[in-house]
Parts: sequence; structure tokens; C-alpha cells
Amino acid sequence: MGLLSRIFRRKAALTPDLADEIRRSFEEAASDEEHFPSSIDPRILHVRAVIEGVAPLQAGGRVLDAGCGKGRFAVHVKRAYPQALVVALDLATAMLRPAPPELGRVAGSMLELPFPEECFDAAYATESLEHAVDIEAAVGELCRVLKPGGRLVIIDKNARQWGRLETPPWEKWFREEELLRLLRRHCRRSSCRPISYWEDAAPDGLFLCWTAVK
Ligand SMILES: C[S@@+](CC[C@H](N)C(=O)[O-])C[C@H]1O[C@@H](n2cnc3c(N)ncnc32)[C@H](O)[C@@H]1O
Repeated sequence: MGLLSRIFRRKAALTPDLADEIRRSFEEAASDEEHFPSSIDPRILHVRAVIEGVAPLQAGGRVLDAGCGKGRFAVHVKRAYPQALVVALDLATAMLRPAPPELGRVAGSMLELPFPEECFDAAYATESLEHAVDIEAAVGELCRVLKPGGRLVIIDKNARQWGRLETPPWEKWFREEELLRLLRRHCRRSSCRPISYWEDAAPDGLFLCWTAVK
């Protein structure tokens, strides 16, 4: 992909038509269990990073999985913190269907979260921010619903590795600093590290994990 088309992609606006195309694409993708699996091995470091990153979560605490897909991360978060309310939100209702009922399941967009300000103790987004198109708005929304002191974890792909996988036309990958800059607008602490899948494998650079405290 040439430089101009890269720049153009980065600045793509979320028109109503594009928003509809993205939603419809994930409604259809829900039946593709190979690429959108409903479970994940809890030993995978992405799961552990989320579970550790949302801590401390007291009994009655609330955590949001934004762009939860079939809820495969949320299930493990609920197991780790059974006294917490885990809210699994996704754009596509078909994605939410396999998510178990012990999760609070909500259809909606992370660009306009259907929650009041400062109502979650923690939030996370795993490979979903990359589909939000208006990244600034999505990060703003995730931070808006966090309580002061609330924790945020974002796991997504590294822009420096762009091209390694096939992507739909709206997808964006991020440079470390790009999301840190957005997070710093709302959060008092933020950091980013490369993250691997398995404990015995060094990170290969594809995934980054951002954490922040509001
Ligand atoms: C690659 S899947 C990842 C799902 C899940 N986080 C996981 O890791 O299994 C991306 C998910 O983000 C959802 N999504 C895309 N745009 C969204 C938006 N604006 N708001 C909420 N969810 C969105 C899609 O419907 C899809 O389920």
C-alpha cells in the first residue's frame, strides 16, 4: 500500500454507510468460529494481562469489555472476579448470542457507550478498538465511563507490523505513542508494552498492550 493511501486510510471518517457496513460485517462474521472463536485458553498472556490489568476489582465492582465479540475474555474475567459485574458490549448482536448469561450483555457501540459517566471500575478492549475508525472518540468514551482511579487495558495490533495480516478496509493498527497521546488526555498514568501470546515465547511485535489509570 502506498504512502498516500495509508494517509487516506488513517483519516477515514466514520460515515453512516461505513458504520453500517462494519456492523453488518460482524453480524455475518459471528458464524465464523474459526476466525472469531467463542473461547480462549486462559493461559494466553492477553487474558492474563486483562485479568491483572483490571485489578483491584472489589465485590460489586463493574468492568466493561468493549467490543467483546462472543465474550471469550469476559468469561475469564468473571471467573477471576465472580463478585464483579462484567458487562460485555458489542456492536453485533449475533456476536453477543453465545456469551453466557452471567455476563451483562449489551448491544451498542464504543463510540457512544450507553452508560453514564464514571460508572465502571475498569474497562478493556481486545482487538476491537482497531475497528472503531474514530479512535479519538472511542478512547474518549472508554475513559468517560471510567471512575477516577479506574483502570483501562487495550490490547491491539502494532502499526509497525502493518501488512502482516489481511485486514478489512476500515481497520487501523496503532503506534505505541499514538494511543498513549490519546490516553494522556484523560488518564493520569499510561504505559505500553509489547505482549506475546505464550509465556515461553518472546513478543514478536504484533500485539501491544496499553494500560492506563484515570
Ligand atoms: C476481532 S473481534 C474481537 C472480539 C473480542 N474482543 C475478542 O478478542 O474475542 C472485534 C469485535 O469488535 C466489535 N466492534 C467493532 N466495532 C465496534 C464498535 N464501534 N463498538 C463495539 N464493538 C465493536 C465487533 O463486532 C467484533 O465483535
